Amino acid sequence: AQNARESLYIVSQFAGNFFEDQLWNTPEGKAIGLSYFKERGFREDIIKKFNLGYSPDFWDALTQDAVKNKHAEEYLEKTGLAIRNDKGKLYDRFRGRVMFPIHNFTGRIIGFGGRTLKTDKNVPKYVNSPESDIYHKSNVLYGLFHAKKAIRDTDNCYLVEGYADVLAVHQAHIENVVASSGTSLTIEQIRLIGRFTQNVTILYDGDAAGIKASLRGLDMILEEGLNVKVVSFPTGDDPDSYMHKVGAGAFKSYIEDNRQDFILYKANILLAEAGKDPIKRAGIIRDIVESIAKIPDNIKASVFIRECSRLLEVEERILLSELNTMRAAKL
Ligand code: UTP
Ligand code: MN
Ligand code: MN
Ligand code: MN
Ligand code: MN
Repeated sequence: AQNARESLYIVSQFAGNFFEDQLWNTPEGKAIGLSYFKERGFREDIIKKFNLGYSPDFWDALTQDAVKNKHAEEYLEKTGLAIRNDKGKLYDRFRGRVMFPIHNFTGRIIGFGGRTLKTDKNVPKYVNSPESDIYHKSNVLYGLFHAKKAIRDTDNCYLVEGYADVLAVHQAHIENVVASSGTSLTIEQIRLIGRFTQNVTILYDGDAAGIKASLRGLDMILEEGLNVKVVSFPTGDDPDSYMHKVGAGAFKSYIEDNRQDFILYKANILLAEAGKDPIKRAGIIRDIVESIAKIPDNIKASVFIRECSRLLEVEERILLSELNTMRAAKL
């Protein structure tokens, strides 16, 4: 079994090299893939650092090359790099896409995300590797291998949604960043971050889905006992689009100046929705105390109760009794 896993790593690395070679050294790869990354504003050093690539728009380009180089069909299939059709013939999963290899935290390639170059809404934007013996989506954070040292050094981890966001944040010279990409944030991913730091800063997209995911994510992070802050982006922007819009320096200042602790973040979002309606405001207070109730450490929780009391002008002892009621209900 150990050899079989090793064979999956080896064929994945082969595919990574193949896609990278296509991007830099073929007319199709250069004209389509490399120009795409450059048009999006990504620098060559970032494209190289993350081993980005291009999969030719051809039925079985990778499969043919892999078989020619003595890689067994079995491993191409088990990594999902190739798919067998009804006639028993293998074809490539990734065709005519720009490729983002996914590394595990020791730096080995375990899967891929492939982005379409088409704007057609019927084509899935990203195609990802399926689960395999070496790739378990829910346990992986995109970019962790390139981020782990900086996460330790800065004692903070920026959490973004997608592949391009990780690249853009690196391009702004911020290296402590990972993406939950392709899955909504999992407990396993939070615990993985927890091996390097206790502090997470969420930088999700400035759209309804991003706000919803931030609210869900911050509760999960609190429940795991980690500290969480949130930076919101203007409506319609994500870290990638915003960094390219304002430039690296302004981006860096933006995330430093707009970091909100989770109470302020929730209060701002919810108060904007509720306006002056007192019943809705009461709902908000309860909602925020619900998040505080997830914090395992009582002393930390009481600090946040105090902040909540000041911010929302509610007596601390009322919030505390609400907190205790919620905690008791959870037991
Ligand atoms: P987004 O829809 O925010 O895409 O999805 P993005 O990262 O901003 O993509 P670009 O900038 O247009 O290239 C966030 C992440 O969710 C996963 C990908 O990991 C993506 O980066 N995703 C999204 C998928 O796996 N499949 C999809 O079809 C869409
Ligand atoms: Mn396994
Ligand atoms: Mn998004
Ligand atoms: Mn996005
Ligand atoms: Mn984007």
